[in-house]
Amino acid sequence: MILFVASLGGLFEIAPLFTIENTVEKVDGMRPYTPLETAGRDIYVREGCYACHSQMIRTLRSDVDRYGHYSLAAESMYDHPHQWGSKRTGPDLSRVGQKYSDTWHVAHLANPREFVEGSVMPGYSFLLDRNLETSSLQGSLIALRRVGVPYTDAQIENASQDALWQADADANFEGELQDSYGENVQVRDFDGQPSRLTEMDALVAYLQVLGTLVDFDSFDAEANNR
Ligand code: HEC
Repeated sequence: MILFVASLGGLFEIAPLFTIENTVEKVDGMRPYTPLETAGRDIYVREGCYACHSQMIRTLRSDVDRYGHYSLAAESMYDHPHQWGSKRTGPDLSRVGQKYSDTWHVAHLANPREFVEGSVMPGYSFLLDRNLETSSLQGSLIALRRVGVPYTDAQIENASQDALWQADADANFEGELQDSYGENVQVRDFDGQPSRLTEMDALVAYLQVLGTLVDFDSFDAEANNR
């Protein structure tokens, strides 16, 4: 009986969400991750950062005061799986993008205790020595498209090249990347080693985009007008 009642409840609550088109409210500025950011996200998942960090700012005053605007559903619409997390050993990271410099991130990830005495966060200096595997990125984008991320054929075809370009400030392909992914693509060498594309480049590119895509002032103004 319990199973029967619980599944009925589930059926009525969950099933309609798959058919309602506007379950996730559209928000200006959201775009799929670039291949380099996607690679960084995969490293974030692989290293288990989500075990200590959430990416979900609740509507509670204490959360909003500390981290900024509460999270919108649209902000994780291209995240498969989402990185909301369930526990904060460290701070929430959903708005960490552009809060610190790349140099700060690289040094902090390499040795957190250099910045925060007694930090329990592990060091990830090995990411600086590991070349980023770009050949699998095309497959990642194809998989993401299957679950609903709107990558175009061209974006999928150029995946490995786009990853190289995004971390190569000298090559100056900023225009090409912005044409493909939008104005807010950050193009530069992220890990301080311009001659190499490492896993650190990818992870820092990912961290630096978190929470930077939506302009919350205009979002709030629009919401107030509705
Ligand atoms: C064992 C738990 C733990 C894990 C795993 C962990 N962190 Fe942390 N992290 C912390 C703690 C605690 C802090 C706060 C102290 C500090 O800054 O070192 C922190 C701080 C941070 C900050 C600074 C946030 C801010 O707003 O000041 C960033 C960025 C960060 N972590 C990224 C990561 C990334 C990326 C990973 C995975 C590669 C990771 N962390 C894995 C515990 C963890």
